[in-house]
Amino acid sequence: MCGIVGITSNKQVTNSIINSLRKLEYRGYDSAGIATLNNGHINEVKSEGRVDVLEKNLSKSNLKGNVGIGHVRWATHGVPSTVNAHPHSSEKVSVVHNGIIENSTILKKYLIKKGHQFKSQTDTEVIVHLITEYLKKDDLKKSILKMLKKLHGSFALGIIFKDEPDLIIGARRGSPLAVGYGPNENYLGSDSYALKSMTNKISYLNDGEFCILKKDSVEFFDQKGNKVNKKILKLSSNEQSYEKGDYKHFMAKEIDEQPTTIKNCVNEYVDKINKEINIFNFPWKANEISSVVLIGCGTAYHSCLIGKYWFEKLTNLDVTVDIASEFRYRRVKFKKDALYIFVSQSGETADTFAALDLCNKNKVKTCSVVNVVESSIARESKFVLPIHCGPEIGVASTKAFLGQMLVLYILSLKIAKMRKEIDKKIYQEKINSLFDLSKLTNNSLETDSKIQSVCSSFVNIKGSMFLGRGLSFPIALEGALKLKELAYVHAEGYPAGEMKHGPLALIEEGMPVVVLAPRDEYYKKTISNMQEVIARGAKVLLITNKSKDEIHSENIWEKIEVENTSEDLLPFLITIPLQKLAYYSAFKKGYDIDKPRNLAKSVTVE
Ligand code: F6R
Repeated sequence: MCGIVGITSNKQVTNSIINSLRKLEYRGYDSAGIATLNNGHINEVKSEGRVDVLEKNLSKSNLKGNVGIGHVRWATHGVPSTVNAHPHSSEKVSVVHNGIIENSTILKKYLIKKGHQFKSQTDTEVIVHLITEYLKKDDLKKSILKMLKKLHGSFALGIIFKDEPDLIIGARRGSPLAVGYGPNENYLGSDSYALKSMTNKISYLNDGEFCILKKDSVEFFDQKGNKVNKKILKLSSNEQSYEKGDYKHFMAKEIDEQPTTIKNCVNEYVDKINKEINIFNFPWKANEISSVVLIGCGTAYHSCLIGKYWFEKLTNLDVTVDIASEFRYRRVKFKKDALYIFVSQSGETADTFAALDLCNKNKVKTCSVVNVVESSIARESKFVLPIHCGPEIGVASTKAFLGQMLVLYILSLKIAKMRKEIDKKIYQEKINSLFDLSKLTNNSLETDSKIQSVCSSFVNIKGSMFLGRGLSFPIALEGALKLKELAYVHAEGYPAGEMKHGPLALIEEGMPVVVLAPRDEYYKKTISNMQEVIARGAKVLLITNKSKDEIHSENIWEKIEVENTSEDLLPFLITIPLQKLAYYSAFKKGYDIDKPRNLAKSVTVE
């Protein structure tokens, strides 16, 4: 959420900053801006809208400089507008910020009393004026330390100074920040992806740290100003996975990549010869875990909900699921013998990170299921299980969802075996069925024509319902979330059995309802619930799996049949048509599929 970049170099930096901002656009896209230092002056160009608009404005402005910072914004304080776009500058200092300054109102009052004038509605501008104020008396490092001490909330900052021709300050608390190393230049970025085209040598700031970047040196400091030594990590250079190729949208590409996601993940975690799960260094013994707590946000939360069904069924453990933004503020009783599992694609989601931090402070067992292995959540958890699905750029999570589910399923099998809760033969069967999953998901991808023909019924409607029971209930939630965020259509996921306790009142003639009824132990019950909504006028799109058994229901509007697999793995196959339904509905409306309105990937504010 909000992307920041900074470059100090012996060359002109404007073009490289723009290129990095394009890579960061998935984090925010309501406005963008850039500030450089040239001949002892800070100059800035900002615009409302996308980086393309900024680039057009830049071509008219001839902005030059060897030191610069850039920003893409996802508005928190103040409407999206040119004046609220970052960087924010005084004559002395220019700042880009990702995060929220919670005490900005108090600080603003204090600074106005001191004679500072504010131009924007943002919380960020207090940072500019605080530094400007402190620089009147103190040197640069002391001013930065004083400013950081004053701020409450979360932030990643990039700062340049009128009187420091070669220098950028980076600082973080809560929000992520990476430093990149290049020949005669160094970089600052919200993530390594933004810097990848310039360098593969990266370090990450830990919470509370700040850094001083010059074109030929980088120094790191802790919150007291003591020097910190940093490891330089080497990133793999798989640029291809960051490109759209022939696809119109990253989302379409990422949906299509799911068989590969599954294949890679199964290869990573399952030993084909010995039919065993390869999680060798799992740090806890069976008798050290008596319950599991799964925590995430949004789509990741939905994968936690599915995880609950598998963990309960296979491991016989007590399992709870929590939304990170609720968990972190409740009076949770931490249990020493519980395993707290944090699920996050980005590994940077502020609420999930705060929930993890809380668990670490309470010294309980923490494990994370992440896509980005260099992320804060991965670095702070005791044990990490990567999902190995490659970069996910589309704002709506797709392949990461399947990856998260798969790792949770594999972990539940591993713990079931450790606890001797699973019969050897059943364990082997379940492992065997994992090897076929990738191929079977391929068939789910071939549902385009059917989905394209039904999606026009989802485009201009008051609302829709997605119904399922058991493992299909969280998938219903996920299907509804995808339709909401991409096609801007109100949709609700509901447990099919709950309909008659209230929501059945919403069903009216012609309302499209998606019923997920794979042939699992809940099948007959769900089909009965489907009949109840059909009887009240709903147009039902049924998603089930192939079978010789007839479906005993008339008046189904449309039916999609995915392949057969074990009951446990059916959620993987029925998810894909729902992703496509949201994709094609948004496509039909001409919406920006990879960057839905009001949203951004990597939610680094709470
Ligand atoms: C929905 C979506 C979001 C994320 C959520 C958590 O399509 O992408 O709901 O799942 O913001 O993000 P991560 O997984 O990065 O923690």
